[in-house]
Amino acid sequence: MDKMLKPVGIAGTGRCLPERILTNFDLERMVDTSDEWIVSRTGISERRISDAGTATSDLATEAAKKAMEDAGITAGEIDVIIVATATPDMAFPSTACIVQSNLGALQASAFDVQAACTGFIYGLSIGEKFISTGDAKNVLVIGAETLSKICNWEDRSTCVLFGDGAGAAVLREAPKDSGIIATLLGAEGWKGQYLTLPAGGSRMPASIDTVKSGKHFIHMDGGEVYKFAVGVMPQATLGVLEKAGLSLDDIDLLIPHQANKRIVDSAAKRLGIPQDKIFMNLSRYGNMSSASIPVALDEAVKHGLVKNGDNLVLVGFGAGLTWGACAIKWSK
Ligand code: UT7
Repeated sequence: MDKMLKPVGIAGTGRCLPERILTNFDLERMVDTSDEWIVSRTGISERRISDAGTATSDLATEAAKKAMEDAGITAGEIDVIIVATATPDMAFPSTACIVQSNLGALQASAFDVQAACTGFIYGLSIGEKFISTGDAKNVLVIGAETLSKICNWEDRSTCVLFGDGAGAAVLREAPKDSGIIATLLGAEGWKGQYLTLPAGGSRMPASIDTVKSGKHFIHMDGGEVYKFAVGVMPQATLGVLEKAGLSLDDIDLLIPHQANKRIVDSAAKRLGIPQDKIFMNLSRYGNMSSASIPVALDEAVKHGLVKNGDNLVLVGFGAGLTWGACAIKWSK
């Protein structure tokens, strides 16, 4: 790392999950599916679903408050708020601006990042640069989603996969030789058609027809996204390790995007990383897109699985198609 740049670490984390649990057995009564199919094909047993009056910014705000408390900072000390989300409250204002207002973080700049499930890693990479260059002291990075609002609850091929939640992290200058060691981001925009929400933007403005034909719901070619994921997860992990000057043996904990247990198992096998070095909470929450990695990080830290000096690798993929990874030497 350039000597002029400050090291940047995670000073606090937090999460917010809606209380309502939707199990695979509940889904059996809604669509033609089974607990056996969902568990064996994905590893998911249940997911959290927000109620009708809850928006993404509500979950994001609660997760942010917990991360700020964990980091020991007040709203007035936040310089930048970055919200990674594919389910913003609305097209504008940004969800980050709504969170700013909720928190009363009057000094902060605020904006959203759209990199779908990879969004939190994109947000970390951007936030790190604000601090390393001296432009900011405290940056709040949040991954928050209410995917239940864009699921077609009659489409068994997608509705069983997703859940709602939010995770947050406060970034701050870290002690020398610790914190974020490297981030690596990528995108393959020419594969974008494999995972889309087609309507409601400038290409296909909302109309009665777009609503009637279900164009405001998630559309996915699961097989193509699966193929992309099993290739890119090991590739991104190896790439970020190389950039960080670390080897596979140096990893103490891998926190992957929680989309499908078979994808994570395949990546782990290709890399030769044992199961006990991989944090999983997919069975309880399903795929929470940009919230999946920060919620997993917060759980891993709060469950005492991460100690100072440990090397963590966060790695994800998602719509775009996008991918990203981040290597961190933990210090808090
Ligand atoms: O964050 C990024 C988001 N996306 C992903 O990570 C998705 C990546 N892809 C996947 O995880 C997998 O492709 C899925 C879990 C989506 C699907 O698993 P699969 O093993 O690729 O199943 P498939 O799509 O090949 O479907 C196999 C069969 C089909 O029936 P037929 O044509 O063989 O008769 C489907 O119609 O399973 C059927 N099926 C279901 N059956 C029961 C699809 N969804 C369901 C369901 N319950 N929920």
